Amino acid sequence: MKRVFAIVLACLMVMSMFAGCKKAESGNELNLVKDGKLIMSTNAAFPPYEMTDDAGNYIGIDVEVAQAIADKLGLELVIDNMEFTAALEAAQKGKADMVMAGVTVTPDRELVMDFSNSYATGIQVVIVPENSEIKTIDDLEGKKIGTQMGTTGYLYCSDTPDNGGYGEENVVAYDNGITAVQALLNGQIDCIVIDNAPAQAFVKENPGLKILETEFTVEDYAIGFAKGNTALKEAVNKALAELIADGTVQKIVDKYIPAEQ
Ligand code: ARG
Repeated sequence: MKRVFAIVLACLMVMSMFAGCKKAESGNELNLVKDGKLIMSTNAAFPPYEMTDDAGNYIGIDVEVAQAIADKLGLELVIDNMEFTAALEAAQKGKADMVMAGVTVTPDRELVMDFSNSYATGIQVVIVPENSEIKTIDDLEGKKIGTQMGTTGYLYCSDTPDNGGYGEENVVAYDNGITAVQALLNGQIDCIVIDNAPAQAFVKENPGLKILETEFTVEDYAIGFAKGNTALKEAVNKALAELIADGTVQKIVDKYIPAEQ
C-alpha cells in the first residue's frame, strides 16, 4: 500500500512539474497584459532601433530583438507605437508588458520601472549644420538646443548649468527626432542633442548636417518593465542572455548599423 502511495505521489509530482513548464511557456505565470502575447510599447521614430518600412511594417534592432525574445518565450509579439514618454508610461503602468525603444537606464527611471540587462550602448551626440560655429560641447552655452521630448538628451540639456545643463529656457523638446531635424534645417534651433544611432541616420538623409566629434555621454539601453514584474523580467533576461551568447543580437545590430559607425 505504501508503495502504491509513493508511486502515485511521484506521478503527481512529475505531472505538476510538467504543468508548471507548460504554464511558463504559455505565459500564464509571467503576469502578462494579455495571455500569450508580449506587448511592447515603443516610439517607432528612432532609426535604426525602431522605425517603419515603406509598407508601414515595424522594423529595427529593437523590433527584431523583441521578436527573437517573444519566439523564445513562445509568445506573440505585439507592437504598440506611441510617443516616447507614453511608451515609458505604458510599461510603468502595466498597459504594455515592456517598453523597448532604445531606452537609457537612468537612476530616476529605475525608481519607477525595472530594467532588463543592457543589450546595447547609446551615445548622446550633437548634430549641427555643416557651417555651424559650434565646434565642441562647450559652445552649446547660450545656444538653442533641440531634443526629443522626455529623452535623456532633453533631461541633461534642460538641467541647470550647475548640474551640467544649459537651462530649460534654452532647450526645445520636439515630439520626435525627425521634427527636431526639420527645425534645425529651418534655422529655428542651433543644434540637436540626440542618440548617436538615429543621429547618423538623420544626417545621412539630410545633407548639410554633421555630428560633432565630441561625445556628450555614453549610456546603456535596456528593456523596461512595470516595477515588480520580476517573473517577466527574469524570463526576458534569460532569453536575452541566450540571444547575446549565440550571436543573434550582434547579427541584428550588424544588419542595421554598418561596422564603420
Ligand atoms: N535613449 C534615449 C532615452 O532613453 C532616447 C530614446 C528615444 N527612443 C525612441 N524610440 N524615441 O531617453
